[in-house]
Amino acid sequence: MDTQILSPTPATLQHLADHLRSGGLVAIPTETVYGLAGHALDPQPITQIFAVKERPTFDPLITHVAQPDVGYPYLEYLERDLGLVDLSGFEGSQRQSLADLLQTWWPGPLTVVLPRTSRVPDLVSSGLPTVALRMPRHPIAQQVLDRAQIPLAAPSANRFGRISPTSAQAVLSELEGRIPYILDGGECEIGLESTVILVDPREGITLLRPGGISLEQICQSTSMLTRVARSTKGLPTSPGQLPSHYAPGKPFLMLPSRLADLTGPDLKAMLTEQKDYGKLGVLLFSSQSEPIVASLQDYLGVQIEVEILSSSGDLEEAARTLFAKLRRLDCSDADVLLTEPCPVLTGLGHAIQDRLHRATANRQ
Ligand code: TXA
Ligand code: MG
Repeated sequence: MDTQILSPTPATLQHLADHLRSGGLVAIPTETVYGLAGHALDPQPITQIFAVKERPTFDPLITHVAQPDVGYPYLEYLERDLGLVDLSGFEGSQRQSLADLLQTWWPGPLTVVLPRTSRVPDLVSSGLPTVALRMPRHPIAQQVLDRAQIPLAAPSANRFGRISPTSAQAVLSELEGRIPYILDGGECEIGLESTVILVDPREGITLLRPGGISLEQICQSTSMLTRVARSTKGLPTSPGQLPSHYAPGKPFLMLPSRLADLTGPDLKAMLTEQKDYGKLGVLLFSSQSEPIVASLQDYLGVQIEVEILSSSGDLEEAARTLFAKLRRLDCSDADVLLTEPCPVLTGLGHAIQDRLHRATANRQ
C-alpha cells in the first residue's frame, strides 16, 4: 500500500472524511500528537487500527468527538446526540461537576473516561464498561470530525510501544505502507499525549495518564468532585499504561542526575553493561550540561551526539520537542542513548518525566 501525505485543502478534507465514514483509516494531526483515526462505532476499522499499530486488544482507544454548537450542553451532547455515555449513576450535583469540568477543558488535551453505552463497540473499550472521550482543539482535527459526522477512535499514530509522532513525517516513518493517508497539519503544538482521567460518581477523579493539564488544575475547575483517588504506589494502573512505552529502538538509559553533575567515572560505571558502543546519544533538558560533553567524550574515548530539548530550559518547549528529538537520536548512528531526569516534577514536568521513565524502562 502506498502512503500519501496530504495537505488539508477543503477537497482533501472532504475526501478523507468520506473515507473515514466508509470504514477507512487516516492519520490526523491533533494539538497533542498525531492520531490514527477510524470510525469509532464500526468494529471493522477498529480491528484494523489494532492490526496496523500491532497493539494488543487489551489496550483501549480514545474516541474523539466534534465540537457541538457554541453553548450546547456537553453532557446532553454525549448522552442524547451521540449516545456514547450512560450517566445514570451521576446525581444532580455530580452531573454539574462533570459539566463544569468539560466546560473548562474542552475542546483541548483532556481525555475523560466515563461509563459507556452499548453503542460503543467492546473492541474500542477493550471490553471495559467505560469509554475514553476527547474533544480535540486542533482546527484540522475539528474540521475532519465536523465533516465526517462520526466519532473517531484515534490512538497515537505509532507502532505499539514506540515513540508517538508529532509531525506527518514521523507518522510516515512509523506507519509507511500500512495506511493510505496522512493528513499534514505541521508540528503538534503540545507534543505530549492528553491527560487521561477517570470520572466515577463514587470514587471521584483518578489520574490515569499525566499530560499538559495537571491534576491540581483539574481539581480547581470542578468544585464538587473533590475526592481524588491516588494509588499509594504512584499512578493507578490503566490498561495500556505499561511500564515500557514510548521507547526508542536502542538501549535508552536515565541518568541519576543532570549530566553536568556527573563525572567521567560515574558515566563509565553506568555504561558497563552496554557492549561495543562507539557513539553515545544524549538528550538534555537545557544547554546547562553542554559544556562538559567535550571532557566526557575525551574521558570515555567515544563520540557523543547531543540533542537539547530547550536551550533555555523551558518546559513547554521541552514537551513539544521531546518525541521529535528522541526520534532523531534513535535514527542517528549513536549506539546507546542517555537522558537526564526532568528538572521539574510538577505539572507538565510530571508528564515529561512519566514518558521518559517509560521510555527508559527495560522492555519485557
Ligand atoms: O493525546 C492523545 O490522547 C492522543 C491523540 C491522538 O488524541 N491519543 C492517544 O491515544 O494518546 P493512545 O491510544 O496512545 O492512548 C490512550 C490511552 C490508553 O493507553 C489507555 O490507557 C487509556 O487511554 N484509555 C483508553 N480508554 C480507556 C478506558 N476505557 N479506561 C481507562 N483507560 C483508557
Ligand atoms: Mg500511544
